Amino acid sequence: MKILITGANGQLGKCIKDTSINYPEHDFFFVGREELDITSEDSISNLFSNYCFDYCINTAAYTQVEQAEVNKKQAFLVNAKGVKNLAKQCKKSNTVLIQISTDYVFDGKKRTPYTEEDQPNPINVYGTSKLKGEMFVKEFCEKYYIIRTSWLYSNYGHNFYNSIIKSVEEGRGLKITTEQTGTPTNAIDLSEAILKIISFNSNNFGVFHISNTGKSTWYDFAKAIFDQIEQANMSKLEKVNYFSTFAERPVFSVLNTEKFTEVFGFLLPSWEKSLKKIIS
Ligand SMILES: NC(=O)c1ccc[n+]([C@@H]2O[C@H](COP(=O)([O-])OP(=O)(O)OC[C@H]3O[C@@H](n4cnc5c(N)ncnc54)[C@H](OP(=O)(O)O)[C@@H]3O)[C@@H](O)[C@H]2O)c1
Repeated sequence: MKILITGANGQLGKCIKDTSINYPEHDFFFVGREELDITSEDSISNLFSNYCFDYCINTAAYTQVEQAEVNKKQAFLVNAKGVKNLAKQCKKSNTVLIQISTDYVFDGKKRTPYTEEDQPNPINVYGTSKLKGEMFVKEFCEKYYIIRTSWLYSNYGHNFYNSIIKSVEEGRGLKITTEQTGTPTNAIDLSEAILKIISFNSNNFGVFHISNTGKSTWYDFAKAIFDQIEQANMSKLEKVNYFSTFAERPVFSVLNTEKFTEVFGFLLPSWEKSLKKIIS
C-alpha cells in the first residue's frame, strides 16, 4: 500500500512516522507543509500526478483553538478549503482519504459519550472549520474515513502533556480546571489504530470515533501526570472550577468508540494506562 501523510511535521504526523516502522509492508510518503501545502490545489495535483497513493492520511490542520477565533479566515482555509482540495483529488485518484477530525465538533451539552450518530454543533471557530472539512469530505469523496479524536498528546510539539511536564521541570505553579471532561488520547495509540484500519483495507468507510477509553477532566489529567513523576510537587498543582479562555470549549466531549471496536475489533487502552506507558 502506498500511503501519503500530510502535515507530517505535526505531532500526529510524527507519531505516525514512529509507528510506521511496525508496518514495513507499506510505502509511506511523509510530507510537511513545505512539501505540500494543502490549500494549494496545484501542489496537490502535482504530487498526485507523480505518485499513485492508495491512502492519504490528512493530519494537516490549523489547530490553534484560541487563535482561530481571531484568525477565522486561515482556520477555514486550512481546515475546510484544504480538506476540500484533498477530497476532490482523492476521488479523482481513487485514493482512500483518512481525515482526522475532532471532539470539538460537538457542543458538549450531552452527559453520555458522543456517538457517530449524534448531531455536531460546534461552539468555536476551530470546531466549525473542522466540521466544514468533514462536510466537504462527505460531499466530494467516496472512499473516506473521518476519524474524530480528542485531547491528543505526545512527546512532540505543543500539547497539554508537554506543558505540564515542562512546568514540573521548571517548578512552576499550575491552576488547572475541572470544568471540561473529555478523554486524553495518546497520539501513538491513535497512529496504531489508523494504520490498523489501513491494514484491514476494507470498505467500511464512514465516520469513526477513536480515543483512549475512560474520561477525565484537565485537572485529573494533570494530577495523573504529577502522580507519576517522582520530582513533581503536588502542592504546585491547584484545582480550579473555571479557567477563562477566549474560545468557548465543550464542557463534555467524551467520544463513544464502540463502533470502531465493533467494526475493526480493536480497542485503545484506557487513558491512564497509556499515560503510564509514555511516562515510563
Ligand atoms: N491536538 C489535539 O488535541 C487534537 C484533538 C482532536 C483532534 N485533533 C486533530 O488531529 C489532527 C492532528 O493534530 P496535531 O495535534 O498533530 O496538530 P499539529 O501538531 O498542529 O500539526 C498540524 C500540522 O499541520 C500543518 N499545517 C498547517 N497548515 C497546513 C497547510 N496549509 N498545509 C499543510 N500542512 C499544514 C502544521 O504545520 P505548521 O506547524 O507549519 O503550521 C502542523 O505541522 C488535526 O486534524 C487536528 O484537528 C487534534
